[in-house]
Amino acid sequence: MEYKIAVIKGDGIGPEVTQAALEILDAVGEKYGHTFHYTEVLAGGCAYDVHGHPLPEKTMEVCKDSDAVILGAVGGPKWDDLPGDLRPEAALLGLRKGLGLFANLRPAILFDALKDACPLKPEIVGEGLDICVVRELTGGIYFGERGMKETDMGMSAYDMEVYSEMEVERIARVAFDMAMKRKKKVMSVDKANILESSRLWRRTVEKVAKDYPEVALDHMYVDNAAMQLVRNPRQFDVIVTTNMFGDILSDEASMITGSIGMLPSASLGEGNKGMYEPVHGSAPDIAGQGKANPLATILSLSMMLKYTFGLMEEAACIEEAVMSALNEGNRTGDIAAEGEAVLTTEEMRTAVKKFL
Ligand code: NAD
Ligand code: IPM
Ligand code: MN
Repeated sequence: MEYKIAVIKGDGIGPEVTQAALEILDAVGEKYGHTFHYTEVLAGGCAYDVHGHPLPEKTMEVCKDSDAVILGAVGGPKWDDLPGDLRPEAALLGLRKGLGLFANLRPAILFDALKDACPLKPEIVGEGLDICVVRELTGGIYFGERGMKETDMGMSAYDMEVYSEMEVERIARVAFDMAMKRKKKVMSVDKANILESSRLWRRTVEKVAKDYPEVALDHMYVDNAAMQLVRNPRQFDVIVTTNMFGDILSDEASMITGSIGMLPSASLGEGNKGMYEPVHGSAPDIAGQGKANPLATILSLSMMLKYTFGLMEEAACIEEAVMSALNEGNRTGDIAAEGEAVLTTEEMRTAVKKFL
């Protein structure tokens, strides 16, 4: 089969991790007889530098016209002083909204080989820890009205958190459907003791839960959830939450896997189209040094094979190759224990490729 994929390498370590992941995808294509056609387009700081805008129209067109989008990472100190709508990060929001990708799946899985890389005690993480954060991605404070106004205390700035029942209902359904294929547990995380939008969130999730009598639903305030994630992560199966809480809790959950360099993501909407990107950012502190862990991006492509293309065997093949490479002791700096040999991005790619 032939597949059309838009590729956005982005800024910082984005191009390094994306390149490594595409080489893995090509090897999988060769093995199973698929051809992946890539159209590389610009978004983020690099697009601003060339076109004066982080999300050029051409990029949006190519992404709309593709079956899937692969994205490395965007952003960096070079562009930090631009106005909000011209910052590299605005490209991400534009892509998510423009492609209707309201559901962001961020699975935090601790591979056996990385138990030592996880900072939590072995008796706390236990065996086979597997949490899936389902983050709402096109609503909430990321997309509410924002602005500045003059007040008698000087300038003041505001960002509005707004959720509609429709937005909450559709993300809740994604979470419950996901839970049905897992341990049938959903933890909805909100701040319903303070926020009106969270109270609507909670009521709406409760309503959706009636359609899933087999799934156990619980609610937790976000501050408690942040604490419980490190106190007893095993109590969680699927976590469903708002755009901003999901952003924060998924970075926290990434440490369960050993490193943010391990956490993949899929952003999905109503159809099969999806955007696939690592959860981490452009890591300016290590960019251009060959130090970045490419596994989060490689695992994101495994999610692409599964969710957009329905290629289950091929997706599993990538996951197994990653596990085998880790079992063999291959480590980038972020997941290496003291004294352990550290691989470059390319060496890690080669280590995974060997097991395909
Ligand atoms: P970051 O995720 O880029 O980096 C945080 C820390 O994790 C850094 O120490 C970094 O070196 C390390 N790290 C991240 N990815 C790694 C990898 N693959 N291998 C090894 N180490 C890795 O977060 P930040 O520093 O807060 O943000 C940097 C820039 O990235 C900002 O401009 C931010 O807006 C942007 N950002 C973009 C995305 C995205 O494109 N999806 C996501 C998050 C942050
Ligand atoms: C992420 C990132 C983005 C977000 C930023 C860069 C816009 O942190 O994908 O987690 O907050 O969604
Ligand atoms: Mn984030």
